[in-house]
Amino acid sequence: MLPMPPKTTFASDNASGVSPEVMQALVAANAGYSIAYGDDGFTEELRSEMNTLFRQEVSTFLAWGGTGANVVALQSLLQPWQGVVCTQSSHINVDECGAPERFLGSKLIDLPSPDAKLTPDLVTAQLDVLGVVHHVQPGAISVTQSTEYGTVYSVKELQTVIAAAHAGGLRVHMDGARVANAAASLGCSVADFTCAVGVDVLSFGGTKNGMAYGEAIIVFDPELATAVEYLQKQSAQLPSKMRYISAQFSALLKNDLWLIQARHANAMAQLLADGVAGISKIQITQPTQANAVFAILPPESIPKLQAWSPFYTWERENEVRWMTSFATQESDVETFLEGIHAIVDG
Ligand SMILES: Cc1ncc(COP(=O)(O)O)c(C=O)c1O
Repeated sequence: MLPMPPKTTFASDNASGVSPEVMQALVAANAGYSIAYGDDGFTEELRSEMNTLFRQEVSTFLAWGGTGANVVALQSLLQPWQGVVCTQSSHINVDECGAPERFLGSKLIDLPSPDAKLTPDLVTAQLDVLGVVHHVQPGAISVTQSTEYGTVYSVKELQTVIAAAHAGGLRVHMDGARVANAAASLGCSVADFTCAVGVDVLSFGGTKNGMAYGEAIIVFDPELATAVEYLQKQSAQLPSKMRYISAQFSALLKNDLWLIQARHANAMAQLLADGVAGISKIQITQPTQANAVFAILPPESIPKLQAWSPFYTWERENEVRWMTSFATQESDVETFLEGIHAIVDG
């Protein structure tokens, strides 16, 4: 017998709502008037909070969404003859409808990687073509933290992959749509695995971690900041009523709510992974290091489970992705596990 489906879905962390503190901040930001396009008190305050978070002066730009943030960030790093080294699984490669290629006019040099991480060897192998006019010149790497496969680069891994990029003069973009989950997982400051290891521009996600919408573009290299200002407007990523995004981010940063929520999401994924670990017909395909569980299921069970509680299939045959968020409750995981047991093992 199948129980009632869980109250929250494991389809995506984007499916969760807005955390109450963020909603309160939106309501508070709604009082009175503010100058548009970021010249408002909320944005000024957030910019100062970001400087504190990253322990240095950074340039903070606020964009509508993650694809837009990535497109703006990458544009600032490339010349027209250059391309971006990334993994085949990366969001910029498979989930942005070709937006980077279209708006950058640049090739994505997408490399196979079993855990969606770039490695020094993968990057170094791309450097042979540097200086050869017939080849697209690798101009930047883009790493996703945490990755599209729910894995997390250690600080050491980032140091070595970035060192390989720097050896060829490449710049570094980090897609941090789930940077909070990575920070929670690593247990260190977000500065330790971004600016401290040589990331030039970070797309800092808010939507998947309790905001209604909005992502930040954090520029660490001051020489890029002016370009980003113009590119943001040109790329239709300059929200006029910016205070609503700034206020949401400030609510997340206050008292480390962003980390508390991400820690919770990660813990729920671990609970789910532990729960399915004992089911012999299920094979977990990636270490659970952030807020996602990837597993191969008996094929006949997948549509039955999806009909009961929705989720997406993934890259490998019969592979599924289960995502948790700040809103996932332990009881949701328990119910989901009951359903999995009933359908897969029943
Ligand atoms: C790794 C990654 N980057 C960026 C995004 C942002 O996408 P969107 O343009 O939907 O906000 C997502 C959302 O799924 C993502 O998973």
